[in-house]
Amino acid sequence: MKETQEQTVPVRRLRDDLAFLDIVTEWDSLSGYHQWKAAAVVPATFRPRPVERYVIAVANQKGGVGKTITSLELGLAMVARGKRVRIINADPQEASLTSWVPALYPADVAEADRYTLTDVYYERCTLAQATWSTRYEGLFVVPSHPDLATVEKEVPTGAETCLRYHLREVEDDFDVTIIDSGPSLGLLSVSGLVAAHDVVIPVQAASALDIKGAVALYATIHRVQSRMNRDLRVAAVVLTDFERSSLAREIGAEMAKAFPDALIIPARTCVDIGKAQMKQQALREFSPNATAVQDYDQGAGVLVEGRAA
Ligand SMILES: Nc1ncnc2c1ncn2[C@@H]1O[C@H](COP(=O)(O)OP(=O)(O)OP(=O)(O)O)[C@@H](O)[C@H]1O
Ligand SMILES: [Mg+2]
Repeated sequence: MKETQEQTVPVRRLRDDLAFLDIVTEWDSLSGYHQWKAAAVVPATFRPRPVERYVIAVANQKGGVGKTITSLELGLAMVARGKRVRIINADPQEASLTSWVPALYPADVAEADRYTLTDVYYERCTLAQATWSTRYEGLFVVPSHPDLATVEKEVPTGAETCLRYHLREVEDDFDVTIIDSGPSLGLLSVSGLVAAHDVVIPVQAASALDIKGAVALYATIHRVQSRMNRDLRVAAVVLTDFERSSLAREIGAEMAKAFPDALIIPARTCVDIGKAQMKQQALREFSPNATAVQDYDQGAGVLVEGRAA
């Protein structure tokens, strides 16, 4: 992996006087709606993973639920905690993480050697060779190219276990790798689940249909667990675009019931996401005081350190 020092910006910790959500061990679904306060749920049974090279798959086969935002903001929050983080863009869509946070290629790297995830699946390079700097110090990406879609069609030999091999069998110096999956439960997403220690599931806080989708996702996770990755667990559900409402409350309660050992992280609505994407900036950079940034920061703290601050 080649690093570029130019044009990078440091990722700092958030001020600690911000409005973090309360942390509870159970989602309160009994008190009257008017007394109810949104809170992050950290079940008594939750433990962070004590692994050195921690791999998280962010997955949901439904499109537009906040997988990419969740991958990026959790990743940057972990960078701010001193972790060296890599995000793998496992989504062939052009409007994906790669267009939001592009790879910074060193000037002496020829076009043909600007490897992407597709090259890793076809064994034209290692994962390390397809890992590039970004504008954020400490955050690296494995970019995607639309030709990644051919992996799903052609299924190169060993594709299902390709990421697992590179992430779990090969030494490298990343503390955390986050796999941003596309909106499908095809080979690319499954290979992310096969490689991961933990799954983070974003669902739209106000879409009751997302609950049904999460059940199909659960069946896939269960299949991967029983056949290829026994220790896989759902570590967190992120309720994206969260606004306090009785529907959001009910959806959070349903998700907590479906995944009783997982964190429930409300990521509050932020109107600046589109503007940040236009400027090719993460929300954490564009709008560092946004409540959603704080929510992801808190969630990342609990995920990797077991505590929010
Ligand atoms: N906290 C939030 N506040 C406001 N809008 C949000 C929030 N989180 C997500 N969204 C909305 O959801 C949209 C989709 O987010 P994102 O691209 O991360 O989803 P995705 O699941 O990665 O999509 P795809 O399935 O296409 O990869 C954003 O452009 C934004 O409009
Ligand atoms: Mg996405």
